[in-house]
Amino acid sequence: MRKDRDRHTLPDSLRAEFSEFLATRIGLHFPCARWDDLERAVGAAAREFRFEDAEGCVRWLMSSTLTRPQIEILASHLTVGETYFFREKKSFDSLEQYVFPELIQSRRATGKRLRIWSAGCCTGEEPYSIAILLARLIPDLRDWNISILATDINPGFLQKASLGVYGAWSFRDAPRGIKEEFFKKTKEDRFEIVPRVKALVTFAYLNLAQDGYPSVDSGTNAMDIVFCRNVLMYFEAAQCKRVLHKLSLSLMEDGWLFVSPIELSQVASPHLAVINLPGAIVYRKYGKPASAERASAAQPPWLAKAPDLSALPVDPGMTERSSPTLSPKRRQETDLSLRLERKQREIESTAQTPYQQGSALYEQGRYAEAAEKILPTLSQESSDARAMGLLARIYANQGRIADALEWCNKAVAADKLNPGWCYLLATILQEQGLAEEGVAILKRALYLDQNYALAHFALGNLTRRQGKLKDSERHFRNALSILSGYRQEQVLTEAEGITAGRLAEIIRSTVSSEAPHES
Ligand SMILES: C[S@@+](CC[C@H](N)C(=O)[O-])C[C@H]1O[C@@H](n2cnc3c(N)ncnc32)[C@H](O)[C@@H]1O
Repeated sequence: MRKDRDRHTLPDSLRAEFSEFLATRIGLHFPCARWDDLERAVGAAAREFRFEDAEGCVRWLMSSTLTRPQIEILASHLTVGETYFFREKKSFDSLEQYVFPELIQSRRATGKRLRIWSAGCCTGEEPYSIAILLARLIPDLRDWNISILATDINPGFLQKASLGVYGAWSFRDAPRGIKEEFFKKTKEDRFEIVPRVKALVTFAYLNLAQDGYPSVDSGTNAMDIVFCRNVLMYFEAAQCKRVLHKLSLSLMEDGWLFVSPIELSQVASPHLAVINLPGAIVYRKYGKPASAERASAAQPPWLAKAPDLSALPVDPGMTERSSPTLSPKRRQETDLSLRLERKQREIESTAQTPYQQGSALYEQGRYAEAAEKILPTLSQESSDARAMGLLARIYANQGRIADALEWCNKAVAADKLNPGWCYLLATILQEQGLAEEGVAILKRALYLDQNYALAHFALGNLTRRQGKLKDSERHFRNALSILSGYRQEQVLTEAEGITAGRLAEIIRSTVSSEAPHES
């Protein structure tokens, strides 16, 4: 260790500056103790960027906004790819024995729809483990609309995940029989996930420190369960808090968040209640914070019968927040209540119209309150498409898809010449697995505005999924050519904050990920 320190070439001031830069752009935290690791990784990244020395490379990277290819190369050298099937078995036991049965039972009666997100999915073992559990628990899987979104910042990991081929080491803690039932042995003595399980998982690039979520556009809305395990621990405290807040917004009311047992102390969010499941601690979102009844309602009723939990680790975050007069939970709720009341007053004093108030509440993820503000403005004779569109987004984020579709159709009808509503409608239809309908409405959007880059982009994705690769290429090409006429940093309308440059990067990497690669 001492030797390494003596050998380092970057001045300490630059190491400090670069680690700060990485924390804000990629979310990765490199405290002083890890600066040697950082320098080693940067040396390797510098070679890939074709720099002769790490210092020149670091100064070049910090000289302007990081592009997606730069982030991807950095991420491939700086991130940790440790993962395996059914890692932290107790979490998966809780998922199988408590969370899934309740969820599956309630959804069986209301539309057979489930949405799960593995954020920081690495090479895919985590989302495939979730998919395997679902395949075991749901005999009529084909009748369900199940989406497991798996995202990561490292494209190399995502490529491996999409292949779905693993060595024996990935199964080191997997329950017996999993490999035999859900994998096919390849000629090279590796194991390939079976198509029916693979089809449940969609992999995508997403930088948790930067990208816009929740968003209907990236499919990161209305999640029933979010897994974000062994990712938060690499984030610096403020970044971790921001990420957790946004993940909680991505959850449906009553949705579940799983983090790793070693990350429990990092979770403190007004919207997340701590749930002690036998053998594991998870979090559950409850809509209106600060209410004691809601907090206890978040604890599932069957836990009344749960075995003794005294052996479980205590959430250190809760202990830290304790006060001599209030229980930790009450204290937390009271603080939250005051903060929320203050925020509410701020919203009401700065935003005048109900639409503005509704938008502000929507931005905060307070969907039920946002809907309450917007609905009265939409009396029978009102034709305010903007408010209808907002209501559609609110409902989509709450997972109330039928209501979202209804209001989006109303927005399309009220503002017939605006292709933005068609685009929104197509995204919601797509979320429902209604690809044909989505394609039809996107074509209508292009009829209204043939230079609508987002519609070309969405058509590129949809046709690609339908196997129509020529059509897909054409739409991606059109989108790129339209985007070349924009300024890189120009935010696209209806794109929830995505800039022209960012969309072009996404398209390029989607197209390049289709290029043949070695397994
Ligand atoms: C140790 S792995 C965890 C994999 C899996 N969740 C598990 O628990 O086994 C951490 C993953 O987080 C990803 N990651 C790190 N920073 C990220 C960021 N800012 N956005 C998205 N993913 C990130 C890494 O690329 C890596 O794949």
